Amino acid sequence: MRKKVTVVGAGNVGASCALWIASKELADVVLVDVVEGVPQGKGLDLLEAGPVEGYDVTVSGANNYEPTANSDIVVITAGFPRKPGMSRDDLLMANYEIVKTATEGAAKYSPNAILIIVTNPLDAMCWTAFQTSKFSRNRVIGMAGILDTARYRTFLAAELGVSVESVQALVLGGHGDTMVPLVRLTSVSGIPLTELLPRERIDAIVQRTRDGGAEIVKHLKTGSAYYAPSSAAVEMVESILKDKKKVLPCAAYLEGEYGYNGLFVGVPVKLGAMGIEKIYAVHLTPEEKAMLDKSASAVKELVDTIKQKTGA
Ligand code: NAI
Ligand code: 2OP
Repeated sequence: MRKKVTVVGAGNVGASCALWIASKELADVVLVDVVEGVPQGKGLDLLEAGPVEGYDVTVSGANNYEPTANSDIVVITAGFPRKPGMSRDDLLMANYEIVKTATEGAAKYSPNAILIIVTNPLDAMCWTAFQTSKFSRNRVIGMAGILDTARYRTFLAAELGVSVESVQALVLGGHGDTMVPLVRLTSVSGIPLTELLPRERIDAIVQRTRDGGAEIVKHLKTGSAYYAPSSAAVEMVESILKDKKKVLPCAAYLEGEYGYNGLFVGVPVKLGAMGIEKIYAVHLTPEEKAMLDKSASAVKELVDTIKQKTGA
């Protein structure tokens, strides 16, 4: 039987997720959005690309959750994107309400699904979906680290004039200005990055990575990135549906790992049929741990704001 993936939010990220899922023939897709006609129109349009692209999956759209029943995975992209000058955190309370509603609808019809959260501010929205769904922690996962790492790898590959595939790297922490690209563990086919580039170039690339989302917003002016974000979310979908057990940086609910409790933080995880099958606790230097602490406190601040404003 075909797998089924629901994508909530048929905007730029959501529709692009549907496109990647269909083109990789991973699953039937149901797009859900509050705007009447948009998920139906985009779904039909994607379905009609099937004969040209040669994919045999169904893509459909809806304004309610009934047609999403028994999804294997629900990707939540519903929410407002950043506008120029707006931080991810400005989105907090508006997107809290949206993610809560989306999670309630999704969980009601697909109680066994794995949730992949994309909406910003990412780590706090993962917490919202986790609290709302009451799913076990292996089934609520946030997408950010793959995107942040992809940006870091892109900039490094361009600087070094090598294939992006030869650059191995890991970005930990929250999806925000305090994210932690681990320079010490970055290599080009095993050659330490620190042997290939001077410190000031590495620092500049680390900073560009931290500002990677804002760089796209500055160009687009009316929205934020969606091709690389949707590609990253679909790498997670694929690893789960095919039980590939890829080790990827994702936002996971920590219960003591890295010294944090009750927070979603970006860490390396193994993604397979059960969702998060293992959280890897990487040994960090005191300097790296201090950076991760700063990032985790930024996440905690947002979650505390939600708790304070909603009593959740
Ligand atoms: P968009 O504005 O193109 O699409 C959002 C869609 O959500 C719209 O179609 C809107 O009608 C829909 N929506 C709003 N409320 C809804 C509800 N209650 N139920 C269902 N649908 C609803 O925005 P875009 O570019 O697709 O971004 C979506 C979210 O993803 C934003 O919060 C953005 O910041 C975030 N994002 C996160 C990334 C990450 O790395 N985690 C990367 C890129 C975007
Ligand atoms: C990004 O990093 C907006 O969070 C989104 O592009």
